[in-house]
Amino acid sequence: VSRPASLLVIFGATGDLAGRMLLPSLYGLHRDGLLATDFRCLGTARSDLDTGAFRDQVRQHLEKRVPVADRDTDSVARFLDRLEYQAADVADSQSATALTERIKALRTGDVLYHLSTAPRFYAPICAVLGAARLAGAGTRVMLEKPIGHDLASAVAINDGVTATFDESRVFRVDHYLGKEGVQNLLALRFGNALFEPLWNARHIEQVQITVAETIGVEGRGDYYDHSGASRDMLQNHLLQLVCLTAMEPPSQFDPSAVRNEKLKVLRSLRPIEVADIPNNSVAGQYTAGAVDGVAVPGYRDELGRASNTETYIALRAHVDNWRWSGVPFYLRTGKRMARRATEIYLQFRAVPHSIFANSGAAVEPNALIISLQPEERIELRLMHKTPGLDRNGLKLAQVALDLETSDAFKQARRRLAYERLYLDAIEGNGTLFVRRDETETAWQWIDGILDGWQKLGISPKSYPAGTFGPSSAVALTERHGHSWRE
Ligand code: BG6
Repeated sequence: VSRPASLLVIFGATGDLAGRMLLPSLYGLHRDGLLATDFRCLGTARSDLDTGAFRDQVRQHLEKRVPVADRDTDSVARFLDRLEYQAADVADSQSATALTERIKALRTGDVLYHLSTAPRFYAPICAVLGAARLAGAGTRVMLEKPIGHDLASAVAINDGVTATFDESRVFRVDHYLGKEGVQNLLALRFGNALFEPLWNARHIEQVQITVAETIGVEGRGDYYDHSGASRDMLQNHLLQLVCLTAMEPPSQFDPSAVRNEKLKVLRSLRPIEVADIPNNSVAGQYTAGAVDGVAVPGYRDELGRASNTETYIALRAHVDNWRWSGVPFYLRTGKRMARRATEIYLQFRAVPHSIFANSGAAVEPNALIISLQPEERIELRLMHKTPGLDRNGLKLAQVALDLETSDAFKQARRRLAYERLYLDAIEGNGTLFVRRDETETAWQWIDGILDGWQKLGISPKSYPAGTFGPSSAVALTERHGHSWRE
């Protein structure tokens, strides 16, 4: 049993993620009184700063990122007092020793290391910590994505890390699991008796999972161009949403039970064989267009060179087990789409027979829409009588039973995903982190698709920025009598 960590060491503490998300999240925990009084955070990176300069940097990040209503000078000052900084380059033994000495000096109990650097440094950092005897009982390590770019590189990273930290002490981040709406999917499915009996192939016709972004590559072209939508979004965030949507009820909300069930889903994903690639996958890349009325350049212009990297991917996938036999899971994600939307859409089967056929009223199938971004919202679409009199019988229309969750919980502050993740990692609870076997099974499935693209010489179809992807994505669903929810 682990005790809450009293020291958090962030590697890559001057990086973009740390400034935008990590330190503001840690501040959120501080302000809500969720950090122990003796809790300290040591930032480290190669930048040559001292603690004072680091604190100044963090103050500026907080001023930019945390709404005024959620911070006051006093609590910010007390938060900054918890921060320390040590410049270090772990490849240099003298510098590495200075860092490990600093960690030893600050350590009062359990330690959480958070590696937010390029993944090639993960194994060397772990080795340095191991050699300094700073990686034994009472320590754990949190890893940022990407864990590799294919199965082989993921295995190499995982081997490198687990040579020092056994798997039970490794916390792989998928920040989607820290999102309130994603956790609410579990609450909705397993906290209500209403949905579960219908949550299967007998009653569900198709599932669609969409993660549409309006942003482009935001100056991360060098990383992104080696990655693309399949590695950057599908391998992790989308497949985690597939897992939570498709999994069997775990016996408890605990790390083993939840992750065992997610793993079973990943293992049931039908491989998309080369012969099935043309009819079951679409790759796209955006060209110049307009998003929200603002003109934006195409991907290649943003990158400054030619590229065949996909900024959009759509798939028709299947979870081959009893519950989901025959139900297509349409998955899509892309940059520079028409609007930002993350949602899970379950379309139920049609009524077996319409008693309204005489009046010409169409009976549309029911649907459940779980919207995660930009707003959290749950909508159940039902057929309803159109009010009024009509000579030819009843007229029907589909209406939404709308549970706007942000309304129901208006007072609650909107939290960053990393607040949940830090709190859990500090306390040693891995339920919302990704286990090694999950990430490697996901890579195996993605590798199959990317290998297939390569064998067939598939390059992405272009789509104008501000649309919902290439036109061939429409055919992907229409061919099977379904359509994307726009
Ligand atoms: C990251 C990807 O993991 O997720 C980014 O690397 C993407 O490319 C981001 O923009 C999306 O996260 P969110 O929380 O904005 O949906």
